[in-house]
Amino acid sequence: MTPLSSLSPEERLRQLRDQVRHHEERYYVLNDPEIADAEFDALLKQLDALEAEHPDLVTPDSPTQRVAGRPSDGFQTVEHLQPMLSLDNTYSTEELRAFDERVRKGAQLGDVQVTYIAELKIDGLSIALTYLNGILVRGATRGDGQRGEDVSINVRTIRAVPLRLRHAPEGPFEVRGEVYLSRAAFEKTNRERDAAGDPLFANPRNAAAGAMRNLDPSQVAKRGLLAFFYQLVSVGDAASDGGLASHAAVLEALRAWGLPVEPHWTRCRGVDDVIAFCDGWAERRRSLPFDTDGVVIKVDDLALRQQLGTTAKFPRWATAFKFPAEQATTVLKQIAVNVGRTGAVTPYAVLEPVLLAGSTISMATLHNAEDVARKDLREGDRVLIEKGGDVIPKVVKAILPHADDSVAWVMPSTCPSCGTTLRRDDAEVVWRCPNSVCPARLRRSLEHFASRSAMNIEGLGESLLNELVRQGLITDVADIYGLEATQLEELIVAPTDPKSEKARPRKLGKVGRNVVEQIERSRTNDLSRLIYGLGIRHVGEKAAATLARSFRTMDRMLDAPVDMLQSVPDIGPVVAQSVRDFAEEPHTRSLISRLVAAGVNMESQAPELSDQPGPLSGKVFVLTGTLESMSRDEAQARLEQLGARVSGSVSKKTSCVVAGADAGSKLEKAQQLGIETLDEQGFLALIMKHQR
Ligand code: IVH
Repeated sequence: MTPLSSLSPEERLRQLRDQVRHHEERYYVLNDPEIADAEFDALLKQLDALEAEHPDLVTPDSPTQRVAGRPSDGFQTVEHLQPMLSLDNTYSTEELRAFDERVRKGAQLGDVQVTYIAELKIDGLSIALTYLNGILVRGATRGDGQRGEDVSINVRTIRAVPLRLRHAPEGPFEVRGEVYLSRAAFEKTNRERDAAGDPLFANPRNAAAGAMRNLDPSQVAKRGLLAFFYQLVSVGDAASDGGLASHAAVLEALRAWGLPVEPHWTRCRGVDDVIAFCDGWAERRRSLPFDTDGVVIKVDDLALRQQLGTTAKFPRWATAFKFPAEQATTVLKQIAVNVGRTGAVTPYAVLEPVLLAGSTISMATLHNAEDVARKDLREGDRVLIEKGGDVIPKVVKAILPHADDSVAWVMPSTCPSCGTTLRRDDAEVVWRCPNSVCPARLRRSLEHFASRSAMNIEGLGESLLNELVRQGLITDVADIYGLEATQLEELIVAPTDPKSEKARPRKLGKVGRNVVEQIERSRTNDLSRLIYGLGIRHVGEKAAATLARSFRTMDRMLDAPVDMLQSVPDIGPVVAQSVRDFAEEPHTRSLISRLVAAGVNMESQAPELSDQPGPLSGKVFVLTGTLESMSRDEAQARLEQLGARVSGSVSKKTSCVVAGADAGSKLEKAQQLGIETLDEQGFLALIMKHQR
């Protein structure tokens, strides 16, 4: 072999990069490393040093180029070329057999067995990667299935994701899979967060999702995310799936190109094999280093999949079998109540700590007072708890007779935080604290405002906010922008773990300065984050984004009458009324003025989706009733792609009403106004006519 030193820098770099890629693949894809971690690190260091000497020779697909830059303001929204569908769920053998029946009926196969591929369902978050000429060009989250976030910058830091593929087809194609965190990495993350006084993640899935949305890729790189891939979507020319006829062939191809594929997938001939696979893994899953919440069963033959098609939400050729919820018994020590941001006061269970599905549980939800009464849960009871798909476990029932001295639980009649008498609307089961300046509500609203999906002010979490409220430094969200660096540096905070030996009040110091920088940065956030952060009732992240995109400025939204709000696609009467109520609350305008004075951005920069020029530009469509061939969202996206605007209500400005099955008043109104209407067939014909 030629000694490395006699080679040109180009050649040495090429060899080193090939070596690093080879060992990344041995480790992440083949699960069979040939060298120790320290040796790998040494190789990477050599490559780094050589590249530092020859910066002009650094290529974007070099294994050293995983962390680069950071997005200045959140992530861009990107549209998926094909919707990222979800899976229908099955919970029992009977449901699995029913799924198989449907497949065989749809395929007109009679009694012939269908070949399925059974895979473990990875409990992470789905991700779509685009490769062009074998080079990773984009990584996007699932989002709402139609549009996700471009998280390329973070995806690149995941060592299990190859920046360059081997022998892959040239044209653009997309692979989909799951980004996840091993249980060990999850526990390490939580230990570090605990030490730093940050709130803990409830499970590996939340920790992985949190990492993917982190705005600092160097932090993401440290989290130790992993990935498995299970789907190939051709984007450009259809030839890119290279004549692959079965899902098994796809999985083999993905692995051959250098992508990690979960290795336990199995070919099942008929539903009995599928059931045996599911049964086997219900127990064995605990021996895996990562969380799995079920099995995904997919028709193997890709042509047959095509024939079966999809419903609006799910493919008809696949289903997820969910493992039964894990249960344990323990003692219900206390029934306490929690006050939420909207004033909802809800009971929760304080439990004798117990091990359940790999983690220690000391709290569980109790939903509402009626639920506690119906189950007659009492303090001191021995109870059955269960962890299903939800993050927080729930109390199923009491399992032994109550102790003789036990008493039925009664919901407190006053707020545990401010003492105000609780109220409940006739139609509601939830009791609320009506005091809009209740300290507990205030703390929760502030937490929501600063949270990652809202204004994303890192470091301004529960404990710091509690301290700021306690010391009277903030009384509403606008006060956040009055905080100064020196003030926060000098702030004396209580110890995060009062039981620790070193526990004593300390100055916040540098952390305080960082928080002020984060606050500063949040001033330029898009309007959608602010609308969401204000915590307007019924306005979730998606509605906030829609409102921001439609109204563009805070003032225009607050001035809009209810019918105008309601004419925004996807904004229904409840959200519209709630925004109106918020606009009319006495302190809203002054709060907004103070935020404006503090330099907080009140405008949306997001592109208006309906601004795209196209054959239907200038036309306003209204969708009503149910379409068989696609979901409402998809129909809207198709129309918008062609340049049309889609509105939620019929008026003289409407150009056309598309009426699916069971269309009601909107169709009637269109007919009264003499507006053109299309049934599903007509709508499909219109779309086809204008497409490419
Ligand atoms: S296939 C159209 N396979 O589960 C079918 N999904 O509950 C696309 N998931 O959104 C999904 N492991 O994020 C598939 N082996 C696997 C999976 C898997 C985990 C996730 C995926 C999907 C969700 C549906």
